[in-house]
Formats: sequence, structure tokens, C-alpha cells
Amino acid sequence: MSWQATVVTLFPEMFPGPLGQSLAGRALENGVWSCRTEDLREHGLGRHRAVDDTPFGGGAGMVIRPDVADAALAATQADATIPCVYLTPRGRPLTQADVRRYAAGPGVMLLCGRFEGVDERFLQARGVEQVSIGDYVLSGGETAALVLLDACVRLLPGVMGSEQSGVEESFSDGLLEYPHYTRPAVWDGHEVPEVLLSGNHAAIAQWRQAKAEETTRERRPDLWSAWLARKNENRTAAVGGAAQADLRGLRRIPT
Ligand code: 6GU
Repeated sequence: MSWQATVVTLFPEMFPGPLGQSLAGRALENGVWSCRTEDLREHGLGRHRAVDDTPFGGGAGMVIRPDVADAALAATQADATIPCVYLTPRGRPLTQADVRRYAAGPGVMLLCGRFEGVDERFLQARGVEQVSIGDYVLSGGETAALVLLDACVRLLPGVMGSEQSGVEESFSDGLLEYPHYTRPAVWDGHEVPEVLLSGNHAAIAQWRQAKAEETTRERRPDLWSAWLARKNENRTAAVGGAAQADLRGLRRIPT
């Protein structure tokens, strides 16, 4: 039983798109996951197969009709246990925790919006989750759907080597990664940080941890605050006596 992606879209030819390449593409060929599309246009109404109409209350743009969206959803015959996700800049931010939840289940059903959006009654009545991939506006949900699928597929069993599952854990512990260097040791007059050439693994681990913290503090004050809060919580718990092991769980580099 493979992990099943079903995408409702006006642009079915956009799938699997880039996910037909590289590791995701290999996994697709090997049947680790499948990618089906449902063309919203086929469920449009009238001679012009209209999928949208003007917004009640007035204003710019067009809104996808609830009856059309529902007909497309019904046509996918999606298993009711599969989460149904509408990609929209109005959604809650997609997180690695969401991605892990989707990847652990049987698959996802993705609805890609165009125009101003989809009638809210359809989203509420069918229990559709609304998810955004960031604070910027895309021309449609398709590229966001590809992002979500990429993030899920790489977590499916057998898609990536064991070294990649380590990378996943290191992000999900809440810090950005430390910087990476490779040969040559001097490039264009720029040297690699000396500690990395020292062979002192404890010193290297300490340097990387410090860089991860510094980078997170500078670039992502939101993640940094959350990480500090979690660290202090665990420290308090440890004083209470029970949670010494949790402190080790916070450490990114095994020592
Ligand atoms: Cl999910 N869709 C669109 N159209 N724009 C977005 C987005 C989604 N996430 C961020 N911007």
C-alpha cells in the first residue's frame, strides 16, 4: 500500500512536475508513493465549464464555487481517513510537525486554489484543513502543493538514506543547522574554520552547536525564543528530578 497524493487542480499537468525527478521521482517509479490529479475544470458548469463566480458582497476577483469543488472532491473517491488540505495564504503556517503527520498517514488530498479562493462553506462542511507555506503570495496553490508533497515524500520509508533522517531530526529540534565546509581547505584566499581540521570531535561538536545557536538567534528570533523557552522548561523539570534525559534530547550533536 503506497502513500497516495491526490491533487485537485485546474492545472493537472503541473504534477508530479519536479517531483518526477531525483529521489522523489525514483520513489514514484518504485511505487513508494503515487500522484493522481483531478481536473477541477471537468466539474465546471455550463458550456464554458465555469468553476468560479463573483464574490457575494462585491469586490475584486472570483471565487471557486462550493458545488464544483465538492463534485471534484467526490470524483477523487478519496478515502475519508485521508486529510484534505486546501493550500491558501490564509491558512495556518505549514510546519515540519504537519509534514510528519501527513507522511505517517495513508496520504493527502490537496486542493489547489486559483483566483480569490474557494467558497468557505465547502471548506467548513468537508473539514478541509487550510495551510499556507509562508508569508508571500503565489499565483496559485499548485507550487505550494508541490512543496508540501516534497516535504512529505522525503520522509516516506526508503526514500532517503539514513543520513537524511538525521537531518530531519536536527531541524525539528528547533535550531537552524550549522554551516558546512568541504575541500579545498583554502579557496579564493578563504580558509575553513580551523577547529574543523583539528580532528577534535568534542571541540567540533561544541563549535557546531554554538554556530547553530548563533545562526538561529540572528536569523530566526522566533525559533530562538521558542528554543530558549523549551531549554528553560526542561532545566526546571530536571531540577524537579525527573527529566535529566530530556536535556540530552535537546542536544543536536551526539557526544
Ligand atoms: Cl498555499 N497558496 C498561495 N496561492 N499563495 C501562498 C500560499 C499558498 N502559501 C503562501 N503563499
